[in-house]
Amino acid sequence: MTTPDDIERMGAAAVERLRAAPDLDALTAVLAEVTGKGSDLGAVKRGMGQLDAEARKQLGQTLNRVNGDVGRAAAERRAELEAAARRVRLEAERLDLTEVRPTTGAGHLHLVTQTMEELEDVFTGLGFAVAEGPEVEDDWHNFTGLNIPAYHPARDMQDTFFVDRGEPGDVVLRTHTSPVQLRVMEQQGPPIYIVVPGRVHRNEARDATHLATFHQLEALVVDEGITFGHLAGTIEAFTAAYFGEGFTSRLRPSYFPFTEPSAEFDIRRPDGTWLELGGCGMVHPNVLRNGGIDPERYTGFAFGFGIDRLALARHGVPDLREILSVDVRFLEQF
Ligand code: DAH
Repeated sequence: MTTPDDIERMGAAAVERLRAAPDLDALTAVLAEVTGKGSDLGAVKRGMGQLDAEARKQLGQTLNRVNGDVGRAAAERRAELEAAARRVRLEAERLDLTEVRPTTGAGHLHLVTQTMEELEDVFTGLGFAVAEGPEVEDDWHNFTGLNIPAYHPARDMQDTFFVDRGEPGDVVLRTHTSPVQLRVMEQQGPPIYIVVPGRVHRNEARDATHLATFHQLEALVVDEGITFGHLAGTIEAFTAAYFGEGFTSRLRPSYFPFTEPSAEFDIRRPDGTWLELGGCGMVHPNVLRNGGIDPERYTGFAFGFGIDRLALARHGVPDLREILSVDVRFLEQF
């Protein structure tokens, strides 16, 4: 005959087992064992029907209370185990945002900026001043004023990004630094000895030797008595000053609308290989006139070249697209 004490003992044993469950799966299994059909508490419940009214009342009250205790014990243990599981998960997912990546110290300027500054140093050393101009240009300074009229085939040499402002086609992202030639002629007049480093844009697909956004350095000299000899000598002096001993330059005949005669210039490396660098020539009389300068009195030379290719060639990096890399392992090398 089951007594209320028996039920208390069964309940206490069940609570003890629930509290000892090591994880959530074990808890579920234990709960089924201590309250299910096969459990002793389950057997008591099923046997209640055979008891007389007085005994049923007595045992029933105890059974209800003990079942309540068992249920609460299971809920408490579940809460404990869930909290522990959550702590484990949070620990595993924790990101240590205070972790510091060991580096060689502070950051530094990008390779292209470094190169630009080195070139500025070289040219200021040769007596040039540094000038700048806008990246968003008008048609006049980028093309027409540089002796490249509308529909001139030379416009196709420089696929253009147009800016949706003013008359259609009138505002562009400058395709070269040459428009600053005109701006300096307009603003200061001769004598002019300037270099213009800057960013330029072309509507081109990117590949190993082309970027849509890149950098150029432009040089312009306008004075009395300037000759092609001064142009060749300046390029040679710059080559020796920037690249060092053993580097020389050569000029090859070419065509640009804003210079006459025009040439392309290459740099000869000590190993005998050539690096094609840029274009140059004597400033076309039309361009001088467009800049408000009398071509009967003044002559000038100009040249322009890409900085990015130069910077990478110097470090033996073959692919221009590396310029855009944000990988610190690449950037740290320079
Ligand atoms: N602006 C030319 C280009 O981007 C390069 C150039 C050629 C600049 C001849 C010059 C020059 O100043 O005289 O292709």
